Amino acid sequence: MALCFAEHYGRKGVFMRNFTDLGFKETASADIGKLGLDPFKLIGGDWMLVSAGDSTGWNTMTASWGGMGVMWGKNTAVTVIRPQRYTKEFIDKNELFTLSFFGEDQRKALAFCGKYSGRDVDKAKETGLVPVFANGTVSFEQARLILVCRKLFAQPIDPACFLDKDIDTQCYPDKDYHVAYVGEILNAYTRDLL
Ligand SMILES: Cc1cc2nc3c(=O)[nH]c(=O)nc-3n(C[C@H](O)[C@H](O)[C@H](O)COP(=O)(O)O)c2cc1C
Repeated sequence: MALCFAEHYGRKGVFMRNFTDLGFKETASADIGKLGLDPFKLIGGDWMLVSAGDSTGWNTMTASWGGMGVMWGKNTAVTVIRPQRYTKEFIDKNELFTLSFFGEDQRKALAFCGKYSGRDVDKAKETGLVPVFANGTVSFEQARLILVCRKLFAQPIDPACFLDKDIDTQCYPDKDYHVAYVGEILNAYTRDLL
């Protein structure tokens, strides 16, 4: 019983659900390779929602740049966030963030979350995406794949480091350099077929 309590109560003593309680299947970090995920399709093609926060405050935004791979001996995901994004505030003040992936049926919702800011609109209300709070973070009922990530590293892109200077002129006319976040993928949660 004591163990069960330890698992389900977070540091603030708030009852914490697990995504498995919501019908997702859990895959441990060490087994993520077995899922056969294709980051080129998932991130570049399907897009993802980058989300952070909890039931007291959260936000989400669409991203199509980033990566998945191995760093410092850990299975990791990378997301790059421009400084003006409201979501960045939530990533910065939380230890965890999630990357959530959806079926084609949610393309319009992702387009909306990539056009409007959570500072101005209620993204859940406008898209019908249902936020779910579990594992001390946030994702969505409609997600088919959720990667729960623990921040390991954050660094603003330094324009002096571009070896191909065209990237600076093409991608950063406003000099709003992304901050790159590397997160350890703690667990993956899946529902339905990818
Ligand atoms: C397909 C797509 C991909 C995007 N990828 C990124 C990205 O990788 N990084 C980023 O900072 N913004 C990206 N954006 C823009 C943000 O999603 C957008 O500015 C969003 O409205 C920010 O919301 P927020 O202010 O509520 O955080 C993308 C937008 C779209 C439509």
